[in-house]
Amino acid sequence: MARRWWTLPLFLVSALAPSFSLAGPAFENTAIVRTIELGGSLVHVSTTYAVKALEPGQTTYQIALSKVERAKTSWLEAKVKGQTTPLKLSEDESSAEYLLSISLPKALAVNGTLNLVLETMQTHATHPFPEQAAQNEPQLLKYETDLFTISPYTTLVQRTKIKSIAPNVISYTTPHDVDSFVRDGSVTRSGGTITYGPYHDIQTDTDFVAKHQQSVSVHYSFDYPVIEVETLRRTAEISHWGSNLNIEDKAHLHNAGPTLKGHFSRLEYQSQNFQRKQAPHILSDFTLHLPPGVTNAYFYDQNGNVSTSHLRTAPSVAKGSKAVQYSVLQLRPRYPVLGGWNYSYTIGFDTPLQDSVSYDAKDGVYMVGVPVMTPIPGTVVNDAEVKIILPEGATNVKFVSPFPEISNSMSTHISYLDTAGRPAVTFTYKDLTYKHTGTIYVSYQVPLSAHLKKAVSVSAAFFSLFAFAFMARRVNLNLHKK
Ligand SMILES: *[C@@H]1O[C@H](CO)[C@@H](O)[C@H](O)[C@H]1NC(C)=O
Ligand SMILES: *[C@@H]1O[C@H](CO)[C@@H](O)[C@H](O)[C@H]1NC(C)=O
Ligand SMILES: *[C@@H]1O[C@H](CO)[C@@H](O)[C@H](O)[C@H]1NC(C)=O
Repeated sequence: MARRWWTLPLFLVSALAPSFSLAGPAFENTAIVRTIELGGSLVHVSTTYAVKALEPGQTTYQIALSKVERAKTSWLEAKVKGQTTPLKLSEDESSAEYLLSISLPKALAVNGTLNLVLETMQTHATHPFPEQAAQNEPQLLKYETDLFTISPYTTLVQRTKIKSIAPNVISYTTPHDVDSFVRDGSVTRSGGTITYGPYHDIQTDTDFVAKHQQSVSVHYSFDYPVIEVETLRRTAEISHWGSNLNIEDKAHLHNAGPTLKGHFSRLEYQSQNFQRKQAPHILSDFTLHLPPGVTNAYFYDQNGNVSTSHLRTAPSVAKGSKAVQYSVLQLRPRYPVLGGWNYSYTIGFDTPLQDSVSYDAKDGVYMVGVPVMTPIPGTVVNDAEVKIILPEGATNVKFVSPFPEISNSMSTHISYLDTAGRPAVTFTYKDLTYKHTGTIYVSYQVPLSAHLKKAVSVSAAFFSLFAFAFMARRVNLNLHKK
C-alpha cells in the first residue's frame, strides 16, 4: 500500500544536479500549521509551511496531498505569507500521493527560511450525520481528515486546527498511538476549535505513514442550509444591435442537508420564522450579487414568474472602474427547500453592452468579458456550463478562461432574425466555489459585410411588419365597408 512517493523530489533533485545526490533532503519544515474552517458544502483549508532550506540554491518546494484530499480539493493557491501574488505551481500525480511543485520567488541559500501558505477549497467534504432530522432538530454534519499533514520533508512540529462556526461541537476523535510525537496533549478543544498537536519530529518515510497516519473526524452543528447547485447553465448573448448583454442562468439546486424526518409542518415553519429561529436545514431565501446597471431582471421556476423576488439595482459602472458595486437580488423560492429537496429556477437580466465589451478600432477587434458565474454564498456548483453567444458573422474568435475548464467547444446558435446563425463558445466546469469568480474573455471581429447583412435582415423584418400592418389595415377597412 504505502509506496515510495517521498523519493520523487529527491530523485528530481539528483536527476537535475547529480552532485547533490549524496546530500540530505533539500528542506525541512520548521513548523506546519493547518487550519480547517468547517462549512456545509464548502470547507476552507489554509496550511502554513515554515520552510528552511538545507541545500544551497533551492527554487522549488514540494507539497504533498493525499489522493483523497486532492479529490476533495476543487481550488488551490500557494503564496508567500503576507503577499498577494500566487506562486506558480505544477502538479504531479505520483504513485500514491499528489505532489505540488511550487516555484519559490527567489532561490533559498542554506538555512534560508520562508513561510508559504497553501489555501484550498474542499467541496463535498462533509455529510449530514444523522442523515435525517425533524423540522425542529439541529443540523449535524461530520467532517473527516488525516491527522498528520504529510510532506516530502521532515517536520519539526505541526498542528491542525479544525474550526466550527458554532461552538457546539458534538464529538471529535482522540488519536491513538501518537505518544512518541506528543509532549503535552494530543488534542484540545476550546469553544468550536479542536486542535490536534503539536506533534514533533514527523518523518517522511513510508513506515511512518503506514503506522501512524489516521483519520480523525469532527461532528458539529451547522446553522445554515447545505446547498449544492447540481447544474448551472449560463447563457450570455451579445447584441450589438440592442447594445445589450443578456445573461440567463438556469440552476438546479439541491439541499444536501439531512432529509426531513416526518412531515413538513407549514405551521411550525411559520412560527419558527416568526420567532426568527428558522430551522438551519431549510432554505427559504438567498441573495445574489448581480452586476451594476442591470435591467429587465426576471426570476421564474417551473410554475412561472416568482413574484417574491426583490432587486436593488446599483447604477451602471464604467468598464475598468475600480468601484465595487453590485445590484442585490434577493430570491425567495416558491416553497421552502427542505433537506433532500430540489428547486429549479431561471434568472436573467440585461446589462449595457459597453460595461462588458470594448472595441479596439485599430485592429477591429471586440473583446467581451463574461463572469463565469454569480456565486450563491456557501454553495458548490457541481456542473457548470457557460455559453457565450457572439454577434452574427463574428469571426476570428479567441477565448481564455480565468482557470482551467473541463472542456470548451464552438457551435452555431440560430435565433430570430438570424440568417447564418451566431457563433457560440461553450465552457464546462466542475465543483465551482466562490473562489472561482473569474471572467471569461472572448475576442472577435465582425466584418462589415456581416453588419450589412444584419441591417438587411432587420430592415426586411421591419418592412414585412409594415407591409403586414398595411395589409391588415386594408383588410380591416374592407371589412368595415361591408
Ligand atoms: C546553518 O545553521 C546551522 C545550525 O544553526 C549551522 O550549524 C550551519 O553552520 C549553518 N550553515 C550555514 C551555511 O550558514
Ligand atoms: C414577476 O414578478 C415581479 C415581482 O418580483 C414583477 O415585478 C413582474 O412584473 C412580474 N412579471 C411578470 C411577467 O408577471
Ligand atoms: C433531486 O434531484 C436529484 C437529481 O438532480 C434526484 O436524484 C433526486 O431524486 C431529486 N430529489 C427529489 C426529492 O426530487
